[in-house]
Amino acid sequence: MKQIGVGILGFGTVGAGVADGLLKNRELMSGRLGVDITLEKIADLDLITDRGVAVDPAILTTDATAVINDPSIQIVVELIGGTGVARELVLKAFEAGKSVVTANKKLLAECGDEIFSTAERCGVDIYFGASVGGGIPIIRVLREGLAGNQISSMHGILNGTCNYILTRMENEHLPFDEVLNDAQQAGYAEAEPSLDVDGFDTVHKAAILASIAYGFHVPLASVPVEGISHLAGVDVQYAAEFGYRIKLLASINRTDDEVEVSVHPTLVPFDHVLASISDVFNAVMVNGDLSDSTLYYGRGAGREPTASTVIGDIGDVARNIVSGSCRFARAIALNNQGKLKMRDPATIESQYYVRLMVADKAGSLGTMTTILGSHGVSILGANQKLPDSDDSGGDYVPVVMLTHRASSAALVSALDEIYQTGVVREPPVKLRMI
Ligand code: HSE
Repeated sequence: MKQIGVGILGFGTVGAGVADGLLKNRELMSGRLGVDITLEKIADLDLITDRGVAVDPAILTTDATAVINDPSIQIVVELIGGTGVARELVLKAFEAGKSVVTANKKLLAECGDEIFSTAERCGVDIYFGASVGGGIPIIRVLREGLAGNQISSMHGILNGTCNYILTRMENEHLPFDEVLNDAQQAGYAEAEPSLDVDGFDTVHKAAILASIAYGFHVPLASVPVEGISHLAGVDVQYAAEFGYRIKLLASINRTDDEVEVSVHPTLVPFDHVLASISDVFNAVMVNGDLSDSTLYYGRGAGREPTASTVIGDIGDVARNIVSGSCRFARAIALNNQGKLKMRDPATIESQYYVRLMVADKAGSLGTMTTILGSHGVSILGANQKLPDSDDSGGDYVPVVMLTHRASSAALVSALDEIYQTGVVREPPVKLRMI
């Protein structure tokens, strides 16, 4: 049986999972793939920490270039992360004629053009299945299972850390700060927590999904992003009273020649399938013109689930090498470049949840509804709450409204005008609805 050698760059959580999986399931994989995949080398600057994997110490090295240049290695697995050293090493691997498997969403989202074009020029593969959805092979679904579909929309819960935090905020009535700490302890969070809670990790993943579905490079700067770090527990509770759960949602929609991609905390009705995705789990709902709605669910982070997708990619690349076909770089050719464009975020329409601290006096509600109406924002429902006993506002009461569909620009203008009148105590809170 043909042997294909693998070298891993980065022996952290996922690197250890991949090494463990490759060793444990080697025979199983060779039976399925018809290729014997051998783990030849692992590079990491830290060779002291015990990763809980019984690898031969002789295959460990601190020299990443030695892995790339090792003639017994045909597939380089990049699990360092980021766009610094990782980018340099991936490019170096391509130039050395090695195919690359990576889980690095930041690298793909920020440097995708350079990565894909270099892989293409060098005639090697770049696989990145674990960059989105951890253990959910959603990228493979888009490029294979749904390849015959026009994708009209995708909605995804793509960050396990945020979903874990939101689940606990709702179930245990805990404030954001208290739960963030627990999420970090659980080991799913990025080293820089802002990447998770401010939505950037989700934006990277959304941009990758949209680029694959629509065949053009989605510039990160064109994607509006709002994370959950400012989310008040009271909005989670009020949303629940209206029958909604708040999820950090990546929303991707195509209309004619425009694509809208956005990341926002979003109210999802309890009976919507995405509302049932809790804790660290991720899910992506994809609508195709032939398939209709399809749903993909699983663990979006963690050692074994992420390793599962990385190893699946290694298997695919190994088969490509054996069969002499380098297909993936071409399969994601940006063939709609110039034909599709990003939608102006200000024109994106949605229903909205709005919370305002309103002066408790005659005419306040009238002032607000008149202003909303003058901007074409129609109210679907409203609920005036009694002030909390610990609310020092006294003369102000919380009012929660749900609107009909309105453009982001219209709602923002209306809320600004309401704030200027002095009828509300603080800038209104607005959240999207699915
Ligand atoms: N920090 C990410 C998450 C890890 O919480 O989903 C997986 O990309």
